[in-house]
Amino acid sequence: MSAKKWYRGRWKVSANVASLVIEAVHIISKRGIEIKKEEERECEFSSYHPAASWAKEKVALETQVALILSLFPEAKVECQWEEFLEENWQENWRKYFRPIRVSPKLIILPAWEKYEPKKGEIALFIEPATAFGTGTHETTRLCLKAMERFFPLEHPQSLLDVGTGTGILAIYGAKLGIKKIVAVDTDPLAIEAAQKNCQLNKVENIKLIEDSVTKNIGSFDWVVANLETRIILPIAEILTSCACKTLILSGILTKEIEEIKSKIKRSCREVFTEGEWACLVF
Ligand SMILES: C[S@@+](CC[C@H](N)C(=O)[O-])C[C@H]1O[C@@H](n2cnc3c(N)ncnc32)[C@H](O)[C@@H]1O
Repeated sequence: MSAKKWYRGRWKVSANVASLVIEAVHIISKRGIEIKKEEERECEFSSYHPAASWAKEKVALETQVALILSLFPEAKVECQWEEFLEENWQENWRKYFRPIRVSPKLIILPAWEKYEPKKGEIALFIEPATAFGTGTHETTRLCLKAMERFFPLEHPQSLLDVGTGTGILAIYGAKLGIKKIVAVDTDPLAIEAAQKNCQLNKVENIKLIEDSVTKNIGSFDWVVANLETRIILPIAEILTSCACKTLILSGILTKEIEEIKSKIKRSCREVFTEGEWACLVF
């Protein structure tokens, strides 16, 4: 099978326009971005584009960037494009993705690792493909920890995972014993990766949907969403209305906690933090 060709955009943008440029990338590519560096004056991130749609997405991005620069002429927006093969990307993942111990009872392993979980331990096997959610990022681990802590208190029967990526949180929910699980993601590659990971973990009760949550799509004991604040805010009310017991939100910078709290019309029961990242349980 020949390797799939991709383009990576290496962006360097002034901090004052970073959220506008990231929003444009997100809307145009319908894919997440990878933050490399966030400093007071400058933000560096990478965007990913399949070769088949790259030329179209590049033109749309250039139009949006020109618009942003017309409003902020002093700002810097640079992007260097490079072609790469998915095969190499996967090889890099294989090189750097090691087992991650989230807690004494939870370990995440690369798909190719051999491991026999101990009694009472849950092992999640993940093939990262091109989706987010290997446990290497703080925001994923914070969600997993929140789920682990609240599961014995609530024994939820249903779960909605918004922005499932590799499917890691939904799969953990299934392994904990949650019966009805729906997982959504706007990125078709994430849905593909999540499908593979469900098979890999022998989990059959997760319904995967390629979509966002723009209306109430049903009532779930738990709703978990590891998204960025700028994505959470416009759908905060819908997420809250879908969560009949508990809403777990991650992907939030500690400096954004109050903004999120003011938008969710429920009391915040617990805040988990790691470095600059926070996960809030409502
Ligand atoms: C930070 S990743 C989280 C992945 C995984 N749940 C985890 O915790 O590691 C966010 C995911 O949300 C998806 N996404 C972004 N905006 C979305 C939206 N409005 N609705 C659903 N999914 C979205 C992205 O494609 C990406 O896969």
